[in-house]
Amino acid sequence: MRDFISLNNFTLNEINKIIYLADIIKKKPQEFADDLRGKHIGLLFEKPSLRTKTAFYLGALELGADSVYYTPEEVNLGVREKICDVARTISGYMDAVVLRTFSHKTILEFSKYSSIPVVNALSDLFHPSQIIADILTIQEFKGELNNLKVSYIGDANNVCNSLIYVFSILGGNLNIASPEGYTPTEHILEESKRICAHSGGKINILNSCSEVAHDADVLYTDAWTSMGRENEEEKRKNVFKDFQINDNILTYAKKDCIVMHCLPAHRGEEITDSVIDGKHSVVFMQAKNRLYAAKAILRYILKD
Ligand code: CP
Ligand code: NVA
Repeated sequence: MRDFISLNNFTLNEINKIIYLADIIKKKPQEFADDLRGKHIGLLFEKPSLRTKTAFYLGALELGADSVYYTPEEVNLGVREKICDVARTISGYMDAVVLRTFSHKTILEFSKYSSIPVVNALSDLFHPSQIIADILTIQEFKGELNNLKVSYIGDANNVCNSLIYVFSILGGNLNIASPEGYTPTEHILEESKRICAHSGGKINILNSCSEVAHDADVLYTDAWTSMGRENEEEKRKNVFKDFQINDNILTYAKKDCIVMHCLPAHRGEEITDSVIDGKHSVVFMQAKNRLYAAKAILRYILKD
């Protein structure tokens, strides 16, 4: 039984295998149409979702499985019922559970009591299923990671943490520009350093957007204020105002660079209309690739 909670629990070969699966599933969906026939997937989300919910719901369906979606209100994890009781109950019905939570601790607690695989559909710390789609997207547009300069501008949030892990494991070059006080935490950087010592990956943390954007093949950003931090929104708008992907930042990057965003975008904040709607943007293919990533993850944990 295998959880999919954080990418640092996976080896280079395992991550490459999941990305390869996502690619093959995208190209030949029919070959996988019966792989999870008879399986049941629980989708338990504490926060809103468009892409992740759709990707796992349709992903399960297209692999022959069915799924049950639980609204945050009807389960009310840890309030209506203890997490350990929900985990043990759902384990009796389902073959896997896809879980989106406020606190990463909730996923870990759930996994402790669950006897079925748990998939992280986003927590405050990590968003690993997003990152499988992101690597697939980068490879589709830019080829292998090794020779690319990939740069993330903005908050060192869940998406950024998972990017750090995947680049550490795959041995890529990731550059991050975040305002002071919003850079990646020591704990994430220590773990990344440990992994990079084997992989040759390079994670550089800077404060200057123009420096990270310089000669970049890929520019990536995400919301200044993540779900669950809404009370910090006004402060963050001020702190992050210069950490935006706009036409000026694009002039520093390579002429054929791609722009990525996990979405939902806050147009006019971390990214301008002109960039997200412009010729460098691949955000909607990135969103579409969430489906193939979700299918690959479900198949990997339930069949491989
Ligand atoms: N990118 C992403 O996870 O989108 P949702 O929050 O809509 O699922
Ligand atoms: N960092 C964002 C990602 C949304 C998909 C958030 O957690 O709200």
